[in-house]
Amino acid sequence: MKLIITDDYKALSVASAKMVADTINQKQTTVLGLATGSTPVGLYQELISLYINKQVDFSHVTTFNLDEYVGLSPGHPQSYHKFMYDNFFNHVNISQENIHIPKGDNPELEEECAQYEEKIESVGQIDIQVLGIGENGHIGFNEPGSDPNGCTSLVKLSESTVEANARFFGDKELVPRLAISMGLKTILDSSKHVLLLASGEKKAGALYQMVYGEVSEDVPATFLQHHRNVTVIADKDAAKKLPKSDLIAGL
Ligand code: F6R
Repeated sequence: MKLIITDDYKALSVASAKMVADTINQKQTTVLGLATGSTPVGLYQELISLYINKQVDFSHVTTFNLDEYVGLSPGHPQSYHKFMYDNFFNHVNISQENIHIPKGDNPELEEECAQYEEKIESVGQIDIQVLGIGENGHIGFNEPGSDPNGCTSLVKLSESTVEANARFFGDKELVPRLAISMGLKTILDSSKHVLLLASGEKKAGALYQMVYGEVSEDVPATFLQHHRNVTVIADKDAAKKLPKSDLIAGL
């Protein structure tokens, strides 16, 4: 696992965007795995700037998002569909048909999960999978207790995730309790390179566990210790608990 610490969130966003853009510039048909939430917003802004400055081209790129809330239509203000279009897809030259996000409003949810997993398998490999990390160590919506052999499936959000995400909905009661998420196995097996981003002191405990904790279902991110190519970019606050000697200075 390669650990990169940056001074602040802006530097984290610039460094992660450079890594994603470099991957695309080496392979035009890159398959990107994408996350939502607060952490990657800066990454998306930096990628949009690189696109405007003609330093990256998304026309042959394919994307797969990690997850979507069950019951929200793509147009719902808090859906991950809308998040991705508002924060990224609407601002770059990505082809609509290359964008994949689970459909949380499909009445056939099990079928939706199976088809999503098949689509990922059909592209062969995700070249670079962007991840955030939950305060409880979740990745995607794989909450503590998730099966490390799990594929894309219907998952129940933990109480702490509902509370953490209530800030987007204004009211905790409005946060959906179910989601579709790529499974831990999907993430671990399909990703050639995992790029995990962590920002802020609230993530310090989860990040420490992920890197140094015992690999356990209690902290799903610890399974990344089994992956051969993981880069973590964390800002100083998130990296607070990591021993300084293990960190690579910010880019
Ligand atoms: C989002 C996702 C989640 C988030 C995590 C951190 O697609 O899969 O695992 O990455 O909940 O969220 P933020 O970045 O909002 O702290």
